[in-house]
Amino acid sequence: MKSQLEQLKQAAIDALKTVTDNESLERLRVEILGRKGKMAELMKQMATLADEERKLVGAAANEVKGAIEAAFAEKAEMAEGAERAERLSREWIDVTEPAIGVRSGIGNLHPVTQVREDLEDLFASMGFIVADGPELESEYFNFTALNIPPTHPARDMQDTFYIEGHPDMVMRTHTSPVQIRSMKKYGVPLRAIVPGRCFRNEATDVRHEHTFHQLEGVVIDKGITLSHMKGVLETVAKHLYGADTQIRLRPKFYPFVEPGVNGEVTCFLCKGVGCRLCKKSGWLEVFGAGMIHPNVLREGGVDPDVYSGFAFGFGLTRLVMLKYGIDDIRHLEGGDLRFLKQF
Ligand code: DAH
Repeated sequence: MKSQLEQLKQAAIDALKTVTDNESLERLRVEILGRKGKMAELMKQMATLADEERKLVGAAANEVKGAIEAAFAEKAEMAEGAERAERLSREWIDVTEPAIGVRSGIGNLHPVTQVREDLEDLFASMGFIVADGPELESEYFNFTALNIPPTHPARDMQDTFYIEGHPDMVMRTHTSPVQIRSMKKYGVPLRAIVPGRCFRNEATDVRHEHTFHQLEGVVIDKGITLSHMKGVLETVAKHLYGADTQIRLRPKFYPFVEPGVNGEVTCFLCKGVGCRLCKKSGWLEVFGAGMIHPNVLREGGVDPDVYSGFAFGFGLTRLVMLKYGIDDIRHLEGGDLRFLKQF
């Protein structure tokens, strides 16, 4: 009887080795440990034994039964583990996928976009169109056509990014090339603004960034003078900083205008008294402007003997920094939501 028990144990262990899925495991369990299974069969036979012997065989039977049960439990655990591993290898989760049913919340416009749209509305109300041009610009439009020939020192001050294999292309350093593109595209008379991204090879710090925004303006017609220019710029300044804002124009050289000016507005913080923001001068420098150089008009296909015009360029990024008191330009292109959500 004892050897039969041992045989059953061995047979059970061997059979378990060949089992690969839960279903056949359960079938084997019923076959051996079930109510009518082999183990039960042997137990039944024990009833025929003499008392003494039954005691001994009973102890052995319990031991064998325990061992078989333990082997089954172990196998079941392994099968479950294998099944889980197999399932996991089939399933995968894209942790970057936006959660279904979870609203990400409505965002807000970038502060540069807000100021740009506000100025677009203002200029549209004065009859300007909003023009656009490529950020990857030809060296001709970015410099040469703007009266900055290849050897001109002004090129040194606007170092930018270049495209390998395309020596005649640059990431535009300003929005001014669109002055000429607009003249060619729309002809004259012309009233256009060009908001857009510009690029320069800068060692970045709180005031310098490789990517920034400008807003260019160009007006060309018969009989346009510097006083028209002053009127438009004053309107913009008052719109941005309040009705009591004044502007101050001082001569400054830009190759594409003659005369050229550096435009300042009354410091909106101290109202001209002098403070930390305006470095005690009472004025904030916010734009460059001037009467369009005859060479530039000619490049745009406009006859400088018949037409005249003015152009200006605002640092849109700078306007935003002044408006919101942002002390580090790098926040604006940094993409940090904690910063952007404040506007
Ligand atoms: N393009 C100049 C710059 O990036 C700004 C500028 C100055 C634009 C004078 C103009 C202008 O249209 O007339 O520094």
